[in-house]
Amino acid sequence: MKTHITISRWLCLFACVATLNACNAERESVQTYGPPPELTEEQLELFDVTCVGCHGDKDSGAPLFGDGASWDARWAKGFDALYSHTINGFEGMPALGSCAACTKQDLELFIQYLGGRSLNQAAKEN
Ligand code: HEC
Repeated sequence: MKTHITISRWLCLFACVATLNACNAERESVQTYGPPPELTEEQLELFDVTCVGCHGDKDSGAPLFGDGASWDARWAKGFDALYSHTINGFEGMPALGSCAACTKQDLELFIQYLGGRSLNQAAKEN
């Protein structure tokens, strides 16, 4: 009998953890965003010669810079998905956005700048 209780306790703990994870996933999809971040002169230059090459060309198939509507569905995936697709590449989007000179921090900022939003304050402070 005693082992029975122990097993059901573990099951309960497992269920709790699974529920918590589900909550976290949900929180991410309703993440709130602020206005796009500011870039330094150097970052703007880098952004222009890399990201805008495709994201400023309507024939490239990339969601366009400054076109808020085409970014809504992208943001709906959550920032982590956009970030991982930028680092690893995704469909016609090359890994690192073909920007070998960009640091990971640059890329984080460029995604937000390109998509016209910034992560909320709480996320930024982490
Ligand atoms: C060679 C062209 C090209 C360059 C350069 C490029 N992109 Fe993209 N990017 C694309 C295309 C095409 C897509 C759309 C992929 C799809 O959904 O089919 C895309 C999609 C994206 C997405 C959305 C991914 C998603 O999950 O929906 C992000 C974010 C992004 N690019 C960021 C960047 C950033 C930041 C840079 C500059 C560092 C950059 N891209 C440079 C072509 C490019």
